[in-house]
Amino acid sequence: MEKGLIITIDGPSGVGKSTVAKSVAKHLGLTYLDTGAMYRAIALQVKRYPLNIDNDDELSSLLLNTNIEFINNKENNLILTLNNEDITDKIRSPEISRLSSDIATKRIVRKKLVEIQRKIGLNGNIVVEGRDMGTYVFPGADFKFYLDATLAERAKRRRTQLIETGHNIGADNMIKEIELRDKQDKERLESPLHPAPNAVIIDTTNLIADEVINRIITEVKGE
Ligand code: DC
Repeated sequence: MEKGLIITIDGPSGVGKSTVAKSVAKHLGLTYLDTGAMYRAIALQVKRYPLNIDNDDELSSLLLNTNIEFINNKENNLILTLNNEDITDKIRSPEISRLSSDIATKRIVRKKLVEIQRKIGLNGNIVVEGRDMGTYVFPGADFKFYLDATLAERAKRRRTQLIETGHNIGADNMIKEIELRDKQDKERLESPLHPAPNAVIIDTTNLIADEVINRIITEVKGE
């Protein structure tokens, strides 16, 4: 059987990857995989235990007891489960954002999640979103995109999103949070964030989501 298409969409926090990747997948009839949500799920589990994330033994036993799945619920929405509990709406808080960036620096966490991601993407027909999709997880992907935008614009987008879901955060603090996450995601040793050499880089600072989505679809269709 011929393997289906793999499209990777990487980029920093707050750039709008989820909105774009979800819509591109829908337009092209492909599966959508949000790998950031998987790091967030582990962060939620760490917060609940709680444990010292610098202790590999503790982290490793937590990972053994952690089962993450994406499933379609009765309303046919894709939900994320952690040991069979629906955690879709519990992983979007600023606290989990912070903790997920911390745990994403850990080799054993990345190893487990990359294994699951590659398994999900095995047959292709998928749009995968994250930080290392084009550089590390799916280096042979058919199309690679890297979305970027200025720090101020990304902080504005993320803050709007958080306010909509009931999390209030000041504009200055939002900029500081995103700046910190950028630094951590780009400077970590394990799969740091950077564009794959053959990725199409799109500066989305002055673009609305539909323009970014159309640009990607046009590129994939070769129009
Ligand atoms: O995309 P996001 O904000 O939901 O991701 C949460 C954190 O997970 C982010 O700080 C970086 C990390 N992450 C990663 O290291 N690798 C991925 N493929 C996806 C996310």
